[in-house]
Amino acid sequence: MCGIIGYIGYRPCVPVLIDGLKRLEYRGYDSAGVAYIQEGEINIIKSQGKISSLEEKIYTKDPLHATLGIGHTRWATHGIPVEKNAHPHMDNDGNVALIHNGIIENYQEIKEDLISEGYKFLSDTDTEVLVHLISKGYKETNHPLSAIRYCLERIQGSYAIGVLFLDRPNELWAARESSPLIVGVGVGENFIASDLPAFLPYTKDVIFLEDGEIARLDREGVDVFSKESGGVVEKEVKTIPWDITLAQKGGFKHFMLKEIMEQPRVIQEALSGRIDYKNRSLILPELDSLFLPEKIHIVACGTSFHAGFWGKYLLERLAKVPVEVDIASEFRYRSPIIGEKEMVVVISQSGETADTLAGLRMVKEMGAVVLGICNVVGSSVARESDKVLFTQAGPEISVASTKAMCSQMIVLLLMALYFGDKKGTISKKIKYEIFDNLGSLANVLEAELPSMREMAKSLAIEYSFARSFFYLGRGLNYPLALEGALKLKEISYIHAEGYASGEMKHGPIALIDPSFPSFVLATKDNLFQKVVSNVKEIQARKGPVICLTHAGLEINVDSRWDIPYMGDILTSFFILPAEQLFAYEMAVYLGKDVDQPRNLAKSVTVE
Ligand code: G6P
Repeated sequence: MCGIIGYIGYRPCVPVLIDGLKRLEYRGYDSAGVAYIQEGEINIIKSQGKISSLEEKIYTKDPLHATLGIGHTRWATHGIPVEKNAHPHMDNDGNVALIHNGIIENYQEIKEDLISEGYKFLSDTDTEVLVHLISKGYKETNHPLSAIRYCLERIQGSYAIGVLFLDRPNELWAARESSPLIVGVGVGENFIASDLPAFLPYTKDVIFLEDGEIARLDREGVDVFSKESGGVVEKEVKTIPWDITLAQKGGFKHFMLKEIMEQPRVIQEALSGRIDYKNRSLILPELDSLFLPEKIHIVACGTSFHAGFWGKYLLERLAKVPVEVDIASEFRYRSPIIGEKEMVVVISQSGETADTLAGLRMVKEMGAVVLGICNVVGSSVARESDKVLFTQAGPEISVASTKAMCSQMIVLLLMALYFGDKKGTISKKIKYEIFDNLGSLANVLEAELPSMREMAKSLAIEYSFARSFFYLGRGLNYPLALEGALKLKEISYIHAEGYASGEMKHGPIALIDPSFPSFVLATKDNLFQKVVSNVKEIQARKGPVICLTHAGLEINVDSRWDIPYMGDILTSFFILPAEQLFAYEMAVYLGKDVDQPRNLAKSVTVE
């Protein structure tokens, strides 16, 4: 959480920083600030609230012509979200300014030492120790690299930092350890940022910093050093094929809606180059070089966890491989047993989620082979996994994840087909049927989405009285019920619980009354009749029911929503957007901030 950006070049830096911060706002939005060098001093402007509040403050100032600056958007960890805790932070001499994303674990003891030496602290953050330590190191060594190393050697925790020195107006410094940070390489200008969309309008050429690296940027170039030795590290510049339009709203009111409606293209991209339709075979070279696992352990958080849980049902059904799925924050603190021929699959849109990464690192230390399913090229999960299947969904900006799950599900389905094929556990008939349907899935969904949105809108209005919802499903639809409930909670703040419908009778059904609706996934599969019975149990307690089903299926409910049937597996790709659109329309109707829901951050890079 927290987004950071830095610029050095020929343009006035403040508009570049503000523009970049807006594209990073999904990482945190409780306060923001910028620092720049102008007229012989470091100027810092900070504001509580969103970037728009910061902007108002900035543009009441004199015209800004500084061409070196840093900016930050915060998701509070240490210290409440008020102006004094917003970044950048400055040293007591007004010579060093710093932005930080991460957590400094031993800040308390360092703070006490620095206070006893006379340093004055102005905030409640853990970050402020960094700027004082760098300032102290700079006074001792008079060299930025040595000063930054001096600081980093003394701290424990995670960080991505950007640093300015007043007496070095032609240099921007940065460093990372366990928090994302990339360098954008332009012509006559260079950038640092937590994520590519921040500087995508200016360059797609990127240097990925590794943990333990420190970068020095000037207008003409970038040098990277090792924190450990201080020596120069050779780095490669990579070009990322993302288009700026993918990081813009493109006429939609919210990123979330845009990303929901983008899912047909996302399906095509995730499939792209991976199926040979002519020979009806799979092209997954990433898996060719691995072994056929006797068991799979899936580790992820949030929506990615739900995708993994959905994948479990498929991998077990099609590839007959046992699968365990864990929430990463639990996995890392239990004692998982991973056998020799077993594989760990780590799923993460951002590739930077702290708990997921910790799980990955833990199993790597145990000697396990890790397959990453990840959206962001160059992210920590992508770099640290043995092999990666990229989901190719393009940047996801909305805090509530939508298209990422769709792309993860496609990749998991391909994986299940691949392993099933290799092990001979899947019949040609089923395989070909899925292939054929996959070929037309994107077009069918594209045609369906506008009417789905209309249906979602009218249901949202009809059910906006509810303060609680159940989302119910069985089999493949159970993980989707969990995801439907999560989406509604996240953006409309309506309490929602996802349950396996067969489990309702063991307690939750006590909550049912006319004010407590259930959103039931009753699609065509071997469990349909059982779901019908579960619906009857709810109706006997006068609970209202919305039901996702298909034309021709017999089920009597208050609100029926028919979606296309393309085999029970691919039906999931209609259930998912239906739930997303329902949550979206509910949040819009209730006047909530869809793209930036309260208390959340897109990428949780702290534990
Ligand atoms: C945060 C986001 C969720 C996301 C989860 C995992 O909690 O708000 O939308 O699903 O992190 O993120 P990842 O990037 O690892 O998929």
